[in-house]
Amino acid sequence: MNIVITGATSGIGEQVARDYILAGHRVYVCGRNQEKLAALTALELKPQQVTALAFDVSDVKACEQYLSPLQDIDLVILSAGVCEYIDDAQHYDPSLVQRVFAANFFGMVNCAAALLPQMRANTTIAFIDSMSRLLPFTRAQAYGASKAATYYFAQSLGVDLHPKGIRVVTVSPGFVKTPMTDANDFAMPMRITVEQASASLRKQLEKGKQTIYFPRVFGWILRVMHKLPTAVQLAIARRMKDS
Ligand SMILES: NC(=O)c1ccc[n+]([C@@H]2O[C@H](COP(=O)([O-])OP(=O)(O)OC[C@H]3O[C@@H](n4cnc5c(N)ncnc54)[C@H](OP(=O)(O)O)[C@@H]3O)[C@@H](O)[C@H]2O)c1
Repeated sequence: MNIVITGATSGIGEQVARDYILAGHRVYVCGRNQEKLAALTALELKPQQVTALAFDVSDVKACEQYLSPLQDIDLVILSAGVCEYIDDAQHYDPSLVQRVFAANFFGMVNCAAALLPQMRANTTIAFIDSMSRLLPFTRAQAYGASKAATYYFAQSLGVDLHPKGIRVVTVSPGFVKTPMTDANDFAMPMRITVEQASASLRKQLEKGKQTIYFPRVFGWILRVMHKLPTAVQLAIARRMKDS
């Protein structure tokens, strides 16, 4: 397969990129960290198997410049993202919310816009959101909103791209041990490794799943919570905040 992966320089995206490269696929690895990109290209098993594309996903022109020339793409995984929390809900800085949306939501919008025109039937584009979109978690106003927006955008794109045979997939991870979650100062139940996350993601993509959750038990728990009455969800979220 010809595969494009954003956020390939760290965490989930990096592990998925490594696994696809070592399985012999042609992979375009995207990120800003040049050293990490070089380390990925060094993994290639055959000449020109791995191409490094260094650009900022929040820069619409750069996304167009680097991604629109790519042809015959079978699979796109949009993983690039950031996490910033709001510490004081009464005095938050709107620029924090804009930064998070620039990378998480508009980053994926920009990459998809540059790649979709070349995508043909029987190809797949996967948007990595987060299980945080399922409950109003404390301090996650910016991050959770960016992921809820991504989920809606992707699902809605999927409706309109279905007749063309382009499969749009949403991926909602729970806690995965990466530099992003290493920065968290709270308990992270059922946190899994990047190797486990990559294996689950690749297996579920292979099976043709349209909505992917891992770890799966945590995904079930949060989806059940998401179906509870709003007042109950808010009570649970307030309790988590106080614990
Ligand atoms: N880890 C978790 O528990 C978890 C849970 C739910 C959802 N997620 C989502 O999964 C995705 C990957 O998370 P992760 O934990 O693997 O994070 P990570 O280790 O911090 O990696 C983030 C990646 O995104 C790239 N990135 C960030 N901003 C960028 C920008 N403006 N332009 C280009 N690349 C950018 C980084 O590349 P450079 O540094 O090279 O720019 C890096 O490769 C994110 O979308 C995250 O929200 C993660």
